[in-house]
Amino acid sequence: MKVLIIGGGGREHALAWKVNQSPLVEKIYCAPGNAGTVDIAENLSISATDINALFEFATENSIDLTIVGPEQPLTEGIVDLFTENGLKVFGANKKAAILEGSKSFTKDFCKKYNIPTAAYETFTDKQAAIDYINEQGAPIVVKADGLAAGKGVVVANNVSEAVSACHNIMEHRIYGDAGSKLVVEKFLTGQEASYLVFTDGKTILPLASSQDHKQVFNGDKGPNTGGMGAYSPTPVLTAAHEEMVLRDIIKPTIDGMKAEGRPFKGVLYAGLMIDGDDVQLLEYNVRFGDPETQPLMARMKSDIVPIMLACIDDTLGEHTIEWDDKPAVCVVLTSGGYPGNYKRGFEISGIDEANAKPDSVVFHAGTTLENGHVVTNGGRVLGVTALGDDIKSAIDNAYSAVKVIQFAHVHYRSDIGSRIL
Ligand code: AMP
Ligand code: GLY
Repeated sequence: MKVLIIGGGGREHALAWKVNQSPLVEKIYCAPGNAGTVDIAENLSISATDINALFEFATENSIDLTIVGPEQPLTEGIVDLFTENGLKVFGANKKAAILEGSKSFTKDFCKKYNIPTAAYETFTDKQAAIDYINEQGAPIVVKADGLAAGKGVVVANNVSEAVSACHNIMEHRIYGDAGSKLVVEKFLTGQEASYLVFTDGKTILPLASSQDHKQVFNGDKGPNTGGMGAYSPTPVLTAAHEEMVLRDIIKPTIDGMKAEGRPFKGVLYAGLMIDGDDVQLLEYNVRFGDPETQPLMARMKSDIVPIMLACIDDTLGEHTIEWDDKPAVCVVLTSGGYPGNYKRGFEISGIDEANAKPDSVVFHAGTTLENGHVVTNGGRVLGVTALGDDIKSAIDNAYSAVKVIQFAHVHYRSDIGSRIL
């Protein structure tokens, strides 16, 4: 089989690494990929959002399976275009991708199907949102309705912070049209976990649980990022929680989307807030998480390719997934300054040495090749991932591999995973 993977982050390198282990696969293309995917795939200079160019490439090269990494091409209908033209593609179609593309859709959907989520109101009028915030008080959460590259959520500790979020999102349109609507919701407390499932629209096949670390500094301080590290499994999600999540959140979602004429196929990622026995849905993503995918792929023993094909062909009921019992930890190395401004183009050393450590694999994210050298080319640069006999040794293995990697202005958190020790 020939497989095309769309995207160029750590998630896509981890998927390519996993797909490359499948005996079914002869050739992998990544669009655009990074300096890590070149070792196992052919990188294409096509952007992940250039749907027409991707379609043309897949058609001309008889691609057998296309895997879509990021959300934007999904919400813009890449799956519809490929499917209508007889190409197999793994991911949610446009009508289903609205679960990530519109927070107000998802909140209204949750209300209709009794899915536990924070109390909320939706606004298209800025002053009405501000009046509501003044009435409710803080802490309170303000969310741009549409896609904002993971940045559209403000957890406001006081009313003035929430009000200025309304001005920034609705008036100054810092996230463009994503800010034409606002969701204002109740602040929830507890521990977060990520819960991903494969689905063909009827059968639900859960992945192992995971948890990421969103804030840039140790101790969950500083601004939110795309994710500074992750581990799998997470003890925060017990077997009892998992049963509740499947029964009260995932199943009604898959059934409800079908009833709405928006059948969901692909991978559904539920961001959960867990407080004691209570589980609430924070958000849905219609794709794999980044960096959660890195520890998940490190632990997944089954071949992922037949599972993805079964999601497309409605035969997921015939599949199970085998997981490595060993936990996995991924530590993300970033360019200093991220998630704000940072410089690119610094040479990276030590990657081979890190890969040679036991049970360790370095997934590239923002990297590129310059004169044969791997250099930094993004905010999140590498995801150093390791297995261990227990969570402590997985953490130790990951940091032992991190320590041999060097580049100018490198930053990483030194406490990934330690909250569960
Ligand atoms: P989202 O993109 O909706 O997951 O929001 C990003 C992050 O904001 C989440 O991972 C949480 O850390 C935080 N967040 C979102 N909604 C809430 C809420 N209702 N209460 C507390 N924190 C929240
Ligand atoms: N790690 C969070 C996300 O992928 O959205």
